[in-house]
Amino acid sequence: SMTLLVNKNNPLGEFFTPKGLISLNDVGCPVAPGREFLLEETAANALTRMLLALGEELGRNAPAIVTSAYRSYDYQKALFEKYVQNRVARGMSRAEAEKDASRTSAKAGESEHQSGLCVDLLERGERYLSVSFEESDCFAWLCENAHKYGYILRYPKGKEDITKYDYEPWHYRFVGVDVARVIYEDKICLEEYLARY
Ligand code: DAL
Ligand code: ZN
Repeated sequence: SMTLLVNKNNPLGEFFTPKGLISLNDVGCPVAPGREFLLEETAANALTRMLLALGEELGRNAPAIVTSAYRSYDYQKALFEKYVQNRVARGMSRAEAEKDASRTSAKAGESEHQSGLCVDLLERGERYLSVSFEESDCFAWLCENAHKYGYILRYPKGKEDITKYDYEPWHYRFVGVDVARVIYEDKICLEEYLARY
């Protein structure tokens, strides 16, 4: 379902694998050089149209690229553990490290990336995801246009108490154009939309 809710209270669990995953390279979607990413087919096609339109309207060749898409349970488990270990190395206790890492990364089974319906975007030439993405012309364009392609900014600024994650200007979720338009117009997040409708 395009409105599948995945968050800390609604995990996908260990055994969920999305149907209809395809390679973003196979549909000509701009991705980080030399990498391969999988996404659900409808979401992949909409994303490709969105990123190509973004490049055309900004007058640059694919200035925003995919740096993460579908992630398996095992991949997410390793990723979260890496973030925890970084913090433990900086002196936090295991419990503190997990709590702090949970603000920006999902535990295995709780990540929306396991749904195959969302991506992280990066400005071409940048290496790391950063909140400074919000200063880019790519971000400005996405804020006004992503909903036309069925995408929403999944973790908006000011909705942290509801989404339970820090603001992430780079993370876009496919929900289809009808739902995305309502979320855009009403300035709400996916949790609020699903509670309301
Ligand atoms: N960064 C998002 C919350 C995730 O890890 O799924
Ligand atoms: Zn993400």
